[in-house]
Amino acid sequence: MRVVVGVGGGIAAYKTASLVRLFTEAGHDVTVVPTESALAFVGKATWEALSGKAVRTSVFEAVETVNHVRLGHEAELVVVAPATADLLARAAGGHADDLLTNALLTARCPVLMAPAMHTEMWRHPATQANVATLRSRGVVVMDPAVGRLTGKDSGPGRLPEPEEIFAAALALASQRRTDDGGPAEGGPLAGRRILVSAGGTREPIDPVRFLGNRSSGKQGAALARAALRAGASVTFVAAHLDVPPPPGVELVTVETAVELRDAMVERVAAADVVVMSAAVADFRPAHRHDSKIKKRDDVPDAPIELVRNPDVLAELVRLRNAAGGGQVIVGFAAETGDDGADVLEYGRAKLERKGCELLVVNEVGADRVFGLDENSVTILAKDGSEPQHVAGSKDDVAAAVVVRIARELDAR
Ligand code: CTP
Repeated sequence: MRVVVGVGGGIAAYKTASLVRLFTEAGHDVTVVPTESALAFVGKATWEALSGKAVRTSVFEAVETVNHVRLGHEAELVVVAPATADLLARAAGGHADDLLTNALLTARCPVLMAPAMHTEMWRHPATQANVATLRSRGVVVMDPAVGRLTGKDSGPGRLPEPEEIFAAALALASQRRTDDGGPAEGGPLAGRRILVSAGGTREPIDPVRFLGNRSSGKQGAALARAALRAGASVTFVAAHLDVPPPPGVELVTVETAVELRDAMVERVAAADVVVMSAAVADFRPAHRHDSKIKKRDDVPDAPIELVRNPDVLAELVRLRNAAGGGQVIVGFAAETGDDGADVLEYGRAKLERKGCELLVVNEVGADRVFGLDENSVTILAKDGSEPQHVAGSKDDVAAAVVVRIARELDAR
């Protein structure tokens, strides 16, 4: 595999020498691209000797080879270690002021960044915002290790050990190969077609306003990835998402609940599994104004009348039943408990009402679930089997739902 190892200007650069060795000893073709300031810590000679290749830092060296574009294009994996606060900021800002940032902008492969800096710099809102931006673009930014730093201080900010970065890099490269190439072979959903809705619908009020919700689409995207990894082919019906749609899916984009319904109804017959993870607005404005609604003095109250949207999940179940189809249909339920009943009681009632085979129930609230990378759910099944509680990353939850779906299909 062709690997570009970017090195930022931090004292932890000395550990990256071991990382380069791990790659070369495993037979990978490594090009080291340090920043100018990285060379103040570990010199060119070390990188050239370890990688067996010329080492450059600037776009003005080896110009005839169009190095600044070629490096990114040819790389199958880019690993940046240490990613300093400054390098994270330049990458998040899309700068192209040295060879490494050019390579990052032209790379089409997975990118892993391993940060190292003092705790205050790591925790600074500017750094945290840069990390969030990079992650939202699909860059994998590892969390720094916690421990003794260069001075007397300790805390989060240490570069993870080279072996740990190496393992994360290899895992990322193999996972993305599966995702980019579409369905994996031989998984528990091999040969199955799965239709997944994700994100939040937006119901237009006028040309500038809409009724929306806080769904990020992360859980739906994680489900699509998990289904691809399990061998399914995935059609991904995406309402508004805060994350990029997963590579390898057939993408259908929609805006409103009615568009989402139409897209799902059109495709349900061809699917083996349907997952409704989208947050669908229950109501929409009765009229879409062609021009922006003005706050006129003679209109004292909000001039928006609402009408009900179709219940897409319930309709898909009805269609399936009417056609005698064997699709496994999975719903999601966002619930809050109250004095009347707890979250699971509401979940059971919803499972009954909607008629689907599985219902993934999460407890929601202002600071729960939406937009976070972690989730905690209970999977309820129509067959009355024990509720299954799953807590972890949205990828962990997705993997558990996929296993449960495979079981359901096998039982048919
Ligand atoms: N859903 C749907 N169509 C709607 C509303 C929701 O298909 N108009 C789907 C969601 O995609 C989800 C499930 O129904 O899979 C449950 O969504 P939720 O918002 O929890 O439930 P509601 O049906 O809206 O019920 P309530 O608001 O009464 O809790």
